[in-house]
Amino acid sequence: MPLIAKKSDIPLNGEITPAPDKSISHRSIIFSSIANGVSKIYNLLEGEDVIKTIRAMQLMGVEISKKIDSQNQNFFEVKGSGIVGLMEPQDILDMGNSGTSTRLLAGLVSPYDFTSFFTGDNSLRKRPMNRIFEPIKKFGAKIISRHNNLAPFAIIGNGDSLPIEYRMKMASAQVKSAILLASISTRGQTTIIEPQKCRDHTEIMMKSLGLKISQENFIENNQNGTKISYHGMQEFAGRDFYIPNDISSSAFFMVACLLVKDSKITLKNVGVNPLRTGLIETLQEMGGKILLTNIKEINGEKVADIIVEYSKLKGITVPASRSASMIDEYPILSIACAFAEGESHLLGLEELKAKESNRLQMIATNLENCGVAVKFTENSLSIKGGFVMPKNLVAIKTAMDHRIAMSFLVMGLCLENGIEIDDDSMIATSFPNFFNIFNQFNNQDL
Ligand code: S3P
Repeated sequence: MPLIAKKSDIPLNGEITPAPDKSISHRSIIFSSIANGVSKIYNLLEGEDVIKTIRAMQLMGVEISKKIDSQNQNFFEVKGSGIVGLMEPQDILDMGNSGTSTRLLAGLVSPYDFTSFFTGDNSLRKRPMNRIFEPIKKFGAKIISRHNNLAPFAIIGNGDSLPIEYRMKMASAQVKSAILLASISTRGQTTIIEPQKCRDHTEIMMKSLGLKISQENFIENNQNGTKISYHGMQEFAGRDFYIPNDISSSAFFMVACLLVKDSKITLKNVGVNPLRTGLIETLQEMGGKILLTNIKEINGEKVADIIVEYSKLKGITVPASRSASMIDEYPILSIACAFAEGESHLLGLEELKAKESNRLQMIATNLENCGVAVKFTENSLSIKGGFVMPKNLVAIKTAMDHRIAMSFLVMGLCLENGIEIDDDSMIATSFPNFFNIFNQFNNQDL
């Protein structure tokens, strides 16, 4: 459905509980599904992407149900099948819009002696899959796909899969996690060389489940890398999982708060894994008043409350070395840059082209439509802060991309005549509760 956001005089105030973390939610479903015994998952993201992962595990024979405990808390109960207990999926695995479900589950099923069929929506069927096909084939699985390694595809698993040594070609937690999930049910030691570190939720979850995974840090070409080794066939027991809230979903309200006068909010219980906090660092360098408090650790993940206050921002150069730690945050950062004083240069953005849409292109085109001066290359974006307020409502194209939609709705809060996004339905993939929060601040007399 199309939707309008317009300049509002209502500051953002008080406590906000953003959506639960999408990356950790997917992983908690997958790991509890292959644990021995029962797990309970609290604060699971019930977004469409995670529901796709749940449905896929159910199609492989895992019992997953939503329950309420004695303290009236919702949780998901998962009866794990053990590390070699999954069954052949009884139907095509429809992954919808979810790249994470597709890539992680493709790795998971590759050491099984059965065939799994994957497909997804229009956006997913355009996304590169060779990045996972390459390592998965090394484990011994066979793959049949559409032209250019696109979905739909089938993985013909290999029950006698062989451990691999693999050097990552791009900073991708999805690829790294696909390899780790394949290694879990593969005999022998799998090694991953990761020249540029990226989010390590899979490794943290494996450690917190008692699995022996080794991580050695190294520096190569001024980048921090890791060598990860894991010896397959380690069994583990189910347990309780507590999912922190998502820093990537918090990002929209963080920037909205920095831009709307007199705002001050506290984002509650947000996962602040150091490999995910590039946006906080960047916004602070731009002059944003952002403070972490109440820092704790839950299931091995760092969690904090984030206090944000309206601030005057200045332009910034964000180095390529930071891109992996804020890869999903460039759409919303670009909105902050449009309102900052001076020019911003965002570097190392090649991976942005392989997201739910070509985000480099979508950011540039939509900002230009708002009257912002933008330049972009194959891997960088320059944004000139300050622009003439558009005289009319600006039409924004979302290209089935939830983060483009939410970012430009935040931009709408700062434009006199507002913006209209062409489709709001994809927001439910990652942030089903977005509108309940956003509409408190959006101009309601539209
Ligand atoms: C994710 C990894 C990132 C990120 C995506 C979620 C994950 O993708 O953009 O939203 O949960 O592992 P890449 O692995 O492609 O960098």
